[in-house]
Amino acid sequence: MAIDTATSQASPPYLSRLPRHVAIIMDGNGRWAAQRGLPRVAGHRAGTENLRRVIESFADHGIKYLTLYAFSTENWLRPKEEVRGLFHLLGQVIKREARTLKEKGVKLQHLGKMEGISLRLQKEIRQAIEMTRDNDLIIVSVALNYGGREEILNAVRRIIVDGVPPETVDGALMERYLYTAGQPDPDLIIRTAGEMRLSNFLIWQSAYSEYYATPTLWPDFGEEEIQNALLAYSQRQRRFGGLPSA
Ligand code: IPE
Ligand code: IPE
Ligand code: MG
Repeated sequence: MAIDTATSQASPPYLSRLPRHVAIIMDGNGRWAAQRGLPRVAGHRAGTENLRRVIESFADHGIKYLTLYAFSTENWLRPKEEVRGLFHLLGQVIKREARTLKEKGVKLQHLGKMEGISLRLQKEIRQAIEMTRDNDLIIVSVALNYGGREEILNAVRRIIVDGVPPETVDGALMERYLYTAGQPDPDLIIRTAGEMRLSNFLIWQSAYSEYYATPTLWPDFGEEEIQNALLAYSQRQRRFGGLPSA
C-alpha cells in the first residue's frame, strides 16, 4: 500500500506513540442524510463508501489492528426497511472490496453472531475472510451483528459446555472465548457523531482503552480527523491503575 508521503516525511510527533489497535464506532450516517434531506439509507451508503479510505489511512499510519462497529445486536430495533438497506449495502461493499483488500494486504475478520445474518451474506463474509487469511499488513475486524453483552454471554455458555473447572476461569481463559480471541485490547476507541457512550461495543476489551469522540459524522470522517485522533492518543498517559512511570 502506498505510504502517505506527507505524513511519513514530516514525521509528526504522533508517529512516535501509535496505538496498536484502534476501534471505531462509526456513528452519524442517519444525521448525515437528514442534513441533506435524504433517506437514512443514503447516509449508510455514504458511510460504506468511506470505509476504503479509512482502512487505507490506518494501514498507512502503521496501525496493526482496526476494528469497525458496523451493526449492533440492538440495531435490529430499527425499521425493517433501514435494516434491509444497510445489509444490502454491506453485502455490496464486501463483494466490491474483497479483492482490492486482499491485494493491499488487509486481513478481514468478523466479530459477532453469524446467526441472524442472511445465509448469502454469511457466505460472502466467510469467503472474504478466507480470501484474505494469509495477509498481515493490517487486521480489519468488522463488528457486525455484534453486542458486547451477547459476546460475554456466548463465551460463558461455551465455557460451561466445555466443562471448564471454575477455578481455572480467569481473564486469559475468558479472552480465548471472546470473538476477539488472539487480538490485543483496543488502545484507542474513536466515536464519530458526538455521542459519549460505548453502545455495547467491546465492553470487556475496552476496560483500559483511551476514548476519543469527534462531532464529525462518519461519512465525513477522513485523514485530518484520523491524525487528530492519533495525536490526541499520543498525548495520553496510560496508567492501568498503577502510578505514572517516572
Ligand atoms: C451509524 O449511523 C450506523 C449504524 C448504527 C448502523 P446511524 O444510523 O446510527 O446514524 P445516526 O446516529 O442516526 O445519525
Ligand atoms: C452504535 O451506534 C452502533 C454502531 C455504530 C454500529 P448506534 O447509533 O446504534 O448507538 P446509539 O443507539 O445511539 O447508542
Ligand atoms: Mg447512531
